[in-house]
Amino acid sequence: MRVAVVGKGGAGKSVIAGTMARLVARQGTPVLAFDSDLFPGLSVSLGTPDPVEPPLLGAAAQDEAGLWGWSEGMDATIAAQRFATAAPDGVHVLQRGKIDRAGYEAIIGASKAFWEVAHGLVDAPAFRDWTFIGDLPAGTRQTAEDWAPYADTYLVIVQPSAQSALTAQRVAHLQPRQAAVLFVANRVQGQQDVRHIEELIGQPVFASIPADEGVAAAERLGAAPPVLHGRGRLPRGERPQRGHHFRLVLREQLHRPRIDVGLDRLDLGGRQSAGQPRLARHR
Ligand SMILES: Nc1ncnc2c1ncn2[C@@H]1O[C@H](COP(=O)(O)OP(=O)(O)O)[C@@H](O)[C@H]1O
Ligand SMILES: [Mg+2]
Repeated sequence: MRVAVVGKGGAGKSVIAGTMARLVARQGTPVLAFDSDLFPGLSVSLGTPDPVEPPLLGAAAQDEAGLWGWSEGMDATIAAQRFATAAPDGVHVLQRGKIDRAGYEAIIGASKAFWEVAHGLVDAPAFRDWTFIGDLPAGTRQTAEDWAPYADTYLVIVQPSAQSALTAQRVAHLQPRQAAVLFVANRVQGQQDVRHIEELIGQPVFASIPADEGVAAAERLGAAPPVLHGRGRLPRGERPQRGHHFRLVLREQLHRPRIDVGLDRLDLGGRQSAGQPRLARHR
């Protein structure tokens, strides 16, 4: 499975990306989570602290002319193997880096390396059986700029609000690399919210996740994974087909310190990306 999770800020991308990553990893599939957001988010839902410095800084080096390239002996596969960090349930996380007081300058090398890894792993044999889940920052920019070339499916997270729906429509229209685009309604209070979202976006939603106090409660506990329950459903009138099977059954188990969620089926299948690894040298 290769997915990118996109949508407006606060729609629930990180919660959903992190939860999916943990669910898939628990089933025994190796998972690499791509965190390309410069602000915190995914680590919280994965239940792991953000590293102080992005580990990928070690994968990049600058020559005398100021050009960035791989550090000695590095390529996309080696960089991912060496610099992805371990999170609960066996999820591996690759971080682009977070902006802090030192500003973007401090993480340029990591950011370049992240881009190269995301592109270089598309067809990397060592990662053929891995699930990739990308948590993209808010808005449309990274989708347009191809930060998730590995994704054969875009999960567009929509809340029952007009702004959220507008962002969702814009992302979907970008048609990134002919990926499948599936809308996921999040924080819904009931079927009327799902219908409301479908009216706003003019498309059927593929899965819906209820507004759940447990998610906030988990956050208050700190670093706990989210608690969600919900049920995916196929767009109206559509039959299940390869690349479109998607069923999330996430249930609440608040009494457990490690909040558990169950997953019945999550098989997005899909096409092989046509992307080619790019040359490493760029400014
Ligand atoms: N289904 C949900 N029920 C309740 N709260 C949610 C749900 N999904 C997300 N949230 C909350 O909404 C906020 C934004 O979620 P987050 O995943 O960080 O959004 P994004 O990554 O899209 O910016 C968080 O505080 C999160 O706990
Ligand atoms: Mg986020």
